[in-house]
Amino acid sequence: MQDIQHYIQENKDKFLTELLDLLRIPSVSADSKFKADVRKAAEFICEKLKTAGADSAEICETAGFPIVYGEKIIDAALPTILVYGHYDVQPADPYELWNSPPFEPVVKEEKIYARGSCDDKGQVYMHLKAFEAMMATNTLPCNVKFMIEGEEEVGSDNLGTFVKSNKEKLQADVILISDTAIIANDIPSIDVGLRGLSYMEVEVTGANRDLHSGVYGGAVANPINVLSKMIASLHDENNHISIPAFYDDVVELSGEEREAMAKTPFNLEEYKKDLDIDEVRGEKGYSTIERASIRPTLDVNGIWGGYIGEGAKTVLPSKAFAKISMRLVPDQQSDKITELFTKHFESIAPEGVKVKVRAHHGGEPYVTPTDSIAYLAAEKAMEESFGKKPVPTRGGGSIPIVALFEKELGLKTVLMGFGLDTDAIHSPNEHFGLFNFYKGIETIPLFFKYFSEESSK
Ligand code: BES
Ligand code: MN
Ligand code: MN
Repeated sequence: MQDIQHYIQENKDKFLTELLDLLRIPSVSADSKFKADVRKAAEFICEKLKTAGADSAEICETAGFPIVYGEKIIDAALPTILVYGHYDVQPADPYELWNSPPFEPVVKEEKIYARGSCDDKGQVYMHLKAFEAMMATNTLPCNVKFMIEGEEEVGSDNLGTFVKSNKEKLQADVILISDTAIIANDIPSIDVGLRGLSYMEVEVTGANRDLHSGVYGGAVANPINVLSKMIASLHDENNHISIPAFYDDVVELSGEEREAMAKTPFNLEEYKKDLDIDEVRGEKGYSTIERASIRPTLDVNGIWGGYIGEGAKTVLPSKAFAKISMRLVPDQQSDKITELFTKHFESIAPEGVKVKVRAHHGGEPYVTPTDSIAYLAAEKAMEESFGKKPVPTRGGGSIPIVALFEKELGLKTVLMGFGLDTDAIHSPNEHFGLFNFYKGIETIPLFFKYFSEESSK
């Protein structure tokens, strides 16, 4: 592997310059204002796949944003790795909290600051450059397929259809994704779990119009007061979610599994310090690591209604709204939880208001087996590049499409991510360490090598 590591060293600056170009494209999938830019990012990825040496790369149209598909088949008898990632990014709002503009990337203190630098353009780009390096040094040991989508941040609505109608094309032996984090740069880890998701929106309506809060206040239900109370009732005093049957399908970890988890390196003091909080808060009886990985959650993501302009306006609003997400764990099912939430939320509405509940996207949880060839290959690859064996960890985020890959393609996924939890993904000042970017590029070819070697045994 001497050659390839040499190639990577020689091309470091070029890799970075190209990534910064990609980061300049504001490919925000949630906001229609950026529609043309999302497509531009797809074209950029497609072009780079071609120049890196793919046999073919194409922009596959969907009902939404396109999927970039590319492949290099060196021998049908060899194993095939399917790389998945996303080129779309979260909205950059609120812009005023960024220290430098989100789509004008800067490198500061060894970190790349830009929306998407870590989630997931920076990590997708590691794969493209690792592929380029393997091609340039004639060391690609197996077949590779790339499927890079543009709707991950908005629920991957059209990827399911694409997968279902392209099963032949997507045939592979394993799926490899870099869209998660390691514990620290000197504590490599591999995410072996993702949480599922049910995302809801609720609307509470009181009177048919906004009212004078002096003339009507106290006599008519205030939808914001009511909604606040309804939301507050969704957790009990132990921070347990109070929706009936919510926990019915939750798999409880064994004492042994929890003990193993408690050994995962984690510094509570540093965690609190990083977030500038004096205490953590969550479900009674579980550690912070457990609360953020193997336990389900319910959180308000946004809440609005009434007057929020400058000064004071005395008004009793007609409506109040909230967006609520629930993170799910095995064996909870998104559809079932969505239904439980809907029924419960409607049932707790007091007289005097009308409640509407609407479901946004959802997704199922996923757990990666740690005894597969692919997991062992990732472990060996990271051990070699970091000089330390990676620890398996359960992650708290969601990549809903992973469970669907298993269902539709019968493929397991390895989540070999290189970000850090502190990279501020989805947040102002998102960044990605240069160390992490280059470490990813170095590690991916090792995964290819060990996966191919182990598969042929
Ligand atoms: N890359 C994240 C998921 C992630 C982050 C997993 C960190 C593990 C650790 C992904 O882009 C994401 O943000 N997913 C969404 C779900 C989607 C349906 C909007 C999420 O988790 O909120
Ligand atoms: Mn992501
Ligand atoms: Mn994301």
